[in-house]
Amino acid sequence: MKWNKNNVLLRYNNDFLIANRDLNAWIIISDEVHKIICNYAKSLNKDAFLELYEKEDKEYLQSVISNMIKIKLLVDNEEERIVNSVSLSLTNGCNLNCIHCCMDANNSKVRYEKQVDYWLDIIDELSTNREIEEVTVTGGEPVLKKDFKKISCYLKEKLNCKLLLLTNGTLLDDEVIGWITGVYDSISISLDGGDKILTDFIRGHGVFEKVIQTVVKLKEKGFENISLSAILPNSIDCEEQFQKLCDELEVGCQVRPLSYMGRASENYISLKSIFDNYVHENKLEIADVYDNYEVANLSSCGMASRKMATFDPYGNIYPCNLFQENGMEISYHNGKTFYSENVENVISFKGTICEDCPVNVFCWSCLSDFNNIKNDSKQIEEKCKQKKKKLMFEIWGVTD
Ligand SMILES: C[S@@+](CC[C@H](N)C(=O)[O-])C[C@H]1O[C@@H](n2cnc3c(N)ncnc32)[C@H](O)[C@@H]1O
Ligand code: SF4
Ligand code: SF4
Repeated sequence: MKWNKNNVLLRYNNDFLIANRDLNAWIIISDEVHKIICNYAKSLNKDAFLELYEKEDKEYLQSVISNMIKIKLLVDNEEERIVNSVSLSLTNGCNLNCIHCCMDANNSKVRYEKQVDYWLDIIDELSTNREIEEVTVTGGEPVLKKDFKKISCYLKEKLNCKLLLLTNGTLLDDEVIGWITGVYDSISISLDGGDKILTDFIRGHGVFEKVIQTVVKLKEKGFENISLSAILPNSIDCEEQFQKLCDELEVGCQVRPLSYMGRASENYISLKSIFDNYVHENKLEIADVYDNYEVANLSSCGMASRKMATFDPYGNIYPCNLFQENGMEISYHNGKTFYSENVENVISFKGTICEDCPVNVFCWSCLSDFNNIKNDSKQIEEKCKQKKKKLMFEIWGVTD
């Protein structure tokens, strides 16, 4: 019997919080009980160890220990962390030039694309991992990749998992629609707006109509598993408008948080001014994103629980689509990822004000949000002000 090695230990006053992001499980115990359980875990004769305690204490310890075993914070054998979700970013090329593109993709830069055999080898390696539940094909614009069809069909042939295509939806002509609907389980098209004005600002002129036509064509083909995605101004009205459009088209709806990667960082000021003007001109209400902040789902970050891997067009591997930056490279072998110190430091909030915070794993359910602002003390303090009080009450029962 031992502590699960993926537990995270947080401390507040004389109590410990033992959390496990992989399992979405946590428990609070006192310092004293923590010490006892450490000794219990090491003891050779567990029954004799508990006999050292008075009846009431013994019953309490037994119930805490059995609860911890049930939720796997204490284990006999460690379960290995195996990757279950993979993204393949086939190209850095794109026919669009979206203002916020995290991949900095467009048509005018040098194209980086690995040869088809590189991707087929990766698919062969992935096919040995029985835990893979989904593979997302993305880019740049994946439909532009010369061997897009060959790679997609090979994925279908070799892997028994869900295949998801992330596309801007502007290049899906009848020929492509004819075959992708038989290969992919779902197709997610980025629109970034609930109306033509917003989409065309972000993605370019004519994109809104083109995407709507593509959705109609996919539906005519009988393909139903379609969703539209958007990065939107911080306004409930915008979200509602986007949701309404998706409802009318009878497709799924995904609102994505903005990551400050690639052009989003370069164009941050113009992007903010487009969003602000749009909200202002349409007299929309700005949302306080933390108004309805609920205790985060501990397991929502696939990077923290080592369940994801992103293969980029240059031959690098990253822990998440939103972590494709220098120094964040990882390796993948036999279904497992191996993280560098840099990546581990992000996961443990090392060197930031969040490092010793007793609610850090609840506060940042997406580590990209944290990474985006971790070096900006003003922004991080602003977020902290909004979240800490609520989390300290929800998790630790602290009221002041
Ligand atoms: C990089 S694109 C590649 C696939 C395809 N070209 C598309 O636009 O859907 C993949 C997804 O990332 C989203 N994305 C682009 N820039 C982003 C950013 N700065 N932050 C968060 N998501 C972003 C896109 O909206 C899209 O849904
Ligand atoms: S977000 Fe997608 S469509 Fe837009 S430039 Fe980037 S890769 Fe192209
Ligand atoms: S932002 Fe504040 S509440 Fe959140 S982890 Fe950092 S210090 Fe804690």
